[in-house]
Amino acid sequence: MALVAVSSPKGGVGKTTLVANLGVALAGLGWQVSLVDFDVQNALRLHFDLPIDDPAGYAGHAAETDWAIAARPVAPGLRLVPYGQVEQRQRLRLDGLLAEGGAKFLGPRLGAMLTGPRAMVIADTAPGPTPALAALEDLADLRIAVLLSDATSLALLPQAVAAGRFFHRPSSAERPLQLILNQINVKRRLSRDIAAFVHQRAEGVLLGTVRQDEALAEAVAQQDSIFGYAPHSGAAQDIMAIARRVDQSLGGRAAAVRVPHGVAG
Ligand SMILES: Nc1ncnc2c1ncn2[C@@H]1O[C@H](COP(=O)(O)OP(=O)(O)OP(=O)(O)O)[C@@H](O)[C@H]1O
Ligand SMILES: [Mg+2]
Repeated sequence: MALVAVSSPKGGVGKTTLVANLGVALAGLGWQVSLVDFDVQNALRLHFDLPIDDPAGYAGHAAETDWAIAARPVAPGLRLVPYGQVEQRQRLRLDGLLAEGGAKFLGPRLGAMLTGPRAMVIADTAPGPTPALAALEDLADLRIAVLLSDATSLALLPQAVAAGRFFHRPSSAERPLQLILNQINVKRRLSRDIAAFVHQRAEGVLLGTVRQDEALAEAVAQQDSIFGYAPHSGAAQDIMAIARRVDQSLGGRAAAVRVPHGVAG
């Protein structure tokens, strides 16, 4: 089982797009994936063919011990747990519970989605530091930060590489932080230069790069994944390569957990 938390220091970098498509790719690689939306925008659901007037989500009954009750199956091996449409009062209550209880509060609520060696939760978060992200950073087996290939992201990079973090917790062997550089445009010199710089300076923490590709936005408009809408596109190849890397690093860990004591070696 594995918990993956996707975050970013700034907004609009492609977190939700990557979470939706990585979820499809990892389900295709045999994981039982639950995508959990931690952003009040409730936008992850827009990538899937859910009824537009379905207000379902976990945020309205956050104190419940199992958030899987809000899950909607969206494809074989893939389900979505939307944030839901809630009032300000309920949103503040959820943030309060997360801030106060942290990992102790969140862990059991994700627990039912994390039973079995091939169970995976991928968490989509709001940009910047939040109570949800602090709790996720204490629990996640893999933390992914998404950056754009622009000058602002470049300015943030040394901080991430040197400190191993953007937000609450430093990177560790147990809970590593890896980067995805999104929206690379090889026709733009700045984008090319930044991609080269990141490859050079952050190779050890670079999980992968994703090309700028209109097919990703078009797929959302069709409520399809990039693998259904444009399976041969550059973005589909890039995201599948990242999914394979995630599968290798976390699959190895799941397999290791299954080896009984004294048998290994
Ligand atoms: N590789 C890409 N190529 C082209 N467009 C992309 C790419 N990745 C994301 N986009 C587009 O960028 C926009 C922002 O993406 P998305 O909503 O996934 O970002 P986000 O980080 O989740 O935003 P927020 O911080 O508001 O949650 C969307 O219009 C999406 O289609
Ligand atoms: Mg988003």
